[in-house]
Amino acid sequence: MKHKQEQWTSKIGFILAASGSAIGLGAIWKLPYMTGTNGGGAFFIIFLLFTLFLGLPLLLAEFTIGRHTKKEAISAYETLAPNTPWNWIGKLGVFTAFLLLSFYSVVGGWIVIYLIRSTTLNLSGLSTDDFSNIFNETISNPFMAVGAHFLFLLLTIIVVKGGIQKGIERYTKIMMPALFILFIVIVLRSVTLTGSLDGIRFLFIPDFSSVTGETVLMAIGQSFFSLSLGTSIMVTYSSYLKTDESLPKAAGSIVSLSIFISVLAGLAIFPAVFSFGLEPTEGPPLIFIVLPAVFSSIPFGSIFFFIFMLLLLFATLTSAFSLLELVVASVTKNDKNKRERATWKYGLFIFVLGIPSALSYGIIADIEIFGQTFFDSLDFLVSNILIPLGALLIAIFTPFVIKKHVLFEELNKGSSLKRWLFETWYFLLKYIVPIAIIFAFLNLIGII
Ligand code: PHE
Repeated sequence: MKHKQEQWTSKIGFILAASGSAIGLGAIWKLPYMTGTNGGGAFFIIFLLFTLFLGLPLLLAEFTIGRHTKKEAISAYETLAPNTPWNWIGKLGVFTAFLLLSFYSVVGGWIVIYLIRSTTLNLSGLSTDDFSNIFNETISNPFMAVGAHFLFLLLTIIVVKGGIQKGIERYTKIMMPALFILFIVIVLRSVTLTGSLDGIRFLFIPDFSSVTGETVLMAIGQSFFSLSLGTSIMVTYSSYLKTDESLPKAAGSIVSLSIFISVLAGLAIFPAVFSFGLEPTEGPPLIFIVLPAVFSSIPFGSIFFFIFMLLLLFATLTSAFSLLELVVASVTKNDKNKRERATWKYGLFIFVLGIPSALSYGIIADIEIFGQTFFDSLDFLVSNILIPLGALLIAIFTPFVIKKHVLFEELNKGSSLKRWLFETWYFLLKYIVPIAIIFAFLNLIGII
């Protein structure tokens, strides 16, 4: 018997779920520390430009593929180009999501631990060194790191097994608005600290002298990562969208929300860091060490710390939902009867796969692959190779396989799209996006 395809109950449900997928560790954890270690404003501005000129066109391409076929990632490509190797794009995406979720949830686990700790820990009087010890203790204790990684995945499984409407949409509709409100509370606190202006300057006044080829590449990767592109997650999510909704409008809202949160993240972190004379170049531990140290020295700091960890947990969970959904939808071909079992099965499999990442700051810290810990190597493989590769293939596939008038019709549904906007999108997707990614790859292997 043919089962009925799941659907988002409303357009806003879709927008919140898709922006929930986009907004996560990329915007709140990676972007601030990358901006901090790559010279501030210049990196931030390059990132914003790539988001608009590379990310947005790709997002629209994934939306078009998903909504046009109304199929999950693997079947969507199979439908558009039957019996060709193109459906490997979907398989590559599912594989990437597997790997990504396995270490994403390790960081999710750290956040769970910090959140629990924030309810009991008395922050006042603790210095950056104390927080550095707390952080190292947390990530190096094998039971804590693996246990928290499990807990985080368990939360993800419980939501995703409920399906689109009763699972993902239901929880994202609460978590995303809460995230926006909590974020505004944190930003207001941060920008009203004395000396915060230096942080705002650091974020917005670019100094292009510190920009290198590598910085530009990292900014490309970051703009894809931050919009959840390249894995066909956005293909899957848009396949549950009704035909009368406008894709360009939805994509515009999602990109705006994601940029908005990226700016808020910068505004939450840098003013606070500068105001306390701390270093913005701390790298990955920035939000786990420097930020708590800032909170420890302001009145009601523990409450702000709790709020920040809670919003970070919401952001991370809503991204994790999309990663697991991509896997589950693809392996079950959206058969509702198989969903619950498959969610448990693949969720637990991802848990096992993530154990080495969870241990890679502790007992297996000495085991290195290409000079990096297991965790960092996986992150490198996913963020700098698999995601850009998926993005490149999607940018080639869309104009090459789908007829131009079909693309126009799909994008024109719901609200009419101006021809010149369509042509601009088509041009960016067909030429600019692939060229940018190919340059990035050539640079990565040292050819240019
Ligand atoms: N966009 C998510 C984040 O920024 C990460 C992600 C990447 C999720 C790719 C799904 C696919 O945290």
